[in-house]
Amino acid sequence: MPINSSGQGFSENTLTKQDHFRYFVDVHLGICKGIFDTYQNNFWLSHKYYYIDLNAGPGITEEYGEGSPVIFLQEATKRQVQTRCHFVDVNETVIEALKKNISIFPCQAEYFPYDNHLAIKKISETLYQYHKKGNKKLYGLLYSDENGTVPFDELTEVFSQKHLQTLDILIYFSATTVKRCLKSFGSDKYKRLTDYIYKLPKKHWQIRQAQSDDKQQWSFLFGTNWENKQGKMGYPEVKQLKFYDLSSQKGQSILESLAYTNKEKQEMMQPKIPGLDI
Ligand SMILES: C[S@@+](CC[C@H](N)C(=O)[O-])C[C@H]1O[C@@H](n2cnc3c(N)ncnc32)[C@H](O)[C@@H]1O
Repeated sequence: MPINSSGQGFSENTLTKQDHFRYFVDVHLGICKGIFDTYQNNFWLSHKYYYIDLNAGPGITEEYGEGSPVIFLQEATKRQVQTRCHFVDVNETVIEALKKNISIFPCQAEYFPYDNHLAIKKISETLYQYHKKGNKKLYGLLYSDENGTVPFDELTEVFSQKHLQTLDILIYFSATTVKRCLKSFGSDKYKRLTDYIYKLPKKHWQIRQAQSDDKQQWSFLFGTNWENKQGKMGYPEVKQLKFYDLSSQKGQSILESLAYTNKEKQEMMQPKIPGLDI
């Protein structure tokens, strides 16, 4: 994947990614806004939307235009949702550019110009302080949009904490990279996609189908604990963008195609003949 001079990866899939991110974030903001309005006099929830961008970028790039922080703030402003943002980027110059590019938006923002593996723990501590004041539930979204590997282990550790139970997760990732890392460096360091999802403490997941011609198999994963009275995911399936609930047949088949190589799938389908170890 080409990477521009300030470190943002982009490809022919990037514009679709940004469109899907915009659509998804808009639906998510709309649902949270509905909850905030319904319970406007209740003290058990914070009426602010918490947004954590683990790979913020500068907000605007020459190569693909608006980046995730700008898209998020545009949609939050349209929906009149009060936000508290946490922007992380390992590149300090990028963070300085971001500050300028979002200065027109009314938002409370904190910036973390260092590695997101460390920043995520710091952000979790900050969010704990907000939660502690009045034991409030925190609603919002964490977005991970890595050029390389997703910090799944750190996400698992941090999201095991009670105060992050109501904060949802959206991950944009290359399934091919996840498989390559497992194959090249082994299971001491890397896991299979199914194991990462299983370990991350969110009860319900949606997965987006990758483009059939995309060798990198770029996809989205969305995780939430929100469920309806039937114990199913409370969040609507965004089928028009090819997001499917992982508990559905379609979701399972997408997961299988992203978690296993064709060779592995063929091997799993081969009938095993007792005594013949081939
Ligand atoms: C694919 S770009 C995403 C940009 C942004 N989400 C957007 O929509 O424009 C990835 C960004 O992550 C940053 N980055 C890479 N590794 C990182 C790390 N370990 N911690 C924090 N940021 C990182 C890069 O500097 C780059 O800006």
